[in-house]
Amino acid sequence: MTGNNAVIGIDGPLLVFGGPYGNLQATEAVLSVAVGRGIPPSRIVCTGDLVAYCGDPVATIARVRDAGIHVVMGNCDEQLATGAPDCGCGFPEGGACDRLSSAWFQCVDREVGASDRRWLAALPRRLDIEIGGRRLRIIHGGADVINQFVFATTPLDEKRRQLSLGLADGCHGIIGGHCGMPFTQVIDGRLWHNAGVAGMPANDGTARGWYSVLTPVRGAIEVTHHAFDYDHRAAMAAMARGGYPDEYRAALESGVWPSCDVLEAHERTVQGAALTPGTLRWLASERRPGLSAAWPAWPVPLTAAEADAPAACC
Ligand SMILES: [Fe+2]
Repeated sequence: MTGNNAVIGIDGPLLVFGGPYGNLQATEAVLSVAVGRGIPPSRIVCTGDLVAYCGDPVATIARVRDAGIHVVMGNCDEQLATGAPDCGCGFPEGGACDRLSSAWFQCVDREVGASDRRWLAALPRRLDIEIGGRRLRIIHGGADVINQFVFATTPLDEKRRQLSLGLADGCHGIIGGHCGMPFTQVIDGRLWHNAGVAGMPANDGTARGWYSVLTPVRGAIEVTHHAFDYDHRAAMAAMARGGYPDEYRAALESGVWPSCDVLEAHERTVQGAALTPGTLRWLASERRPGLSAAWPAWPVPLTAAEADAPAACC
């Protein structure tokens, strides 16, 4: 495990995934993908939330812990480690997510022991890596708030603000998690990347989990979003055995979240529309504020209005 201030050198393709969420089968599947691709634990990053909606929190923590990969703390990990009363996701009070999270958090709280909580408490809140000559900051939610939701259509100025926080440390981009949906954007030449999550579908009407691979190539970093199938019915059975909420158990098969409480308007609109895996290249020369819609982005192209907006702080 690496401390908060270390910079990790990455020499080769980097596999990124988020949100194991206590889904042992999905976690096993994504770690098996890494083995199949020949990617060692030293080049695997998890963006946090080892525990959440699904029914095998203890085994999932053990699997990630034993894998020896890099992990940043998620808000669910933090809340569990500190004995907080809820997941700290920041769901609107009284909404469906708020009600359901209270139910699964109680299940997780009953099962996870002191040793695992100490391990979760020691996770770093951020990691800096260097890959292909770029430095990237790995966080869970927002750059300064662990449970901030940052989606593909979160306003660019908010992303610019967060990207600017890493400038003093020489960071050229952010790898984040938390929101549960994969996306990649290049903003004023800097990268914002979210690999999505392994343990819950991407609200796209399929049961697939998501991960990404960042590969240094000549003059660029190639970012590829991948989907994977796994034994989601075994994960559903574990949730039933543990008394976890039916709504999230159903979501593992339907691919549709039980609530859109936290989503931006666009992400609500595309609920149930299957994502197609995609690749973009983050070029070293892409440092052109004000560039129009040619900015690379996946899966949501920036609108002309967004792309033409002046840079606020970078
Ligand atoms: Fe989270």
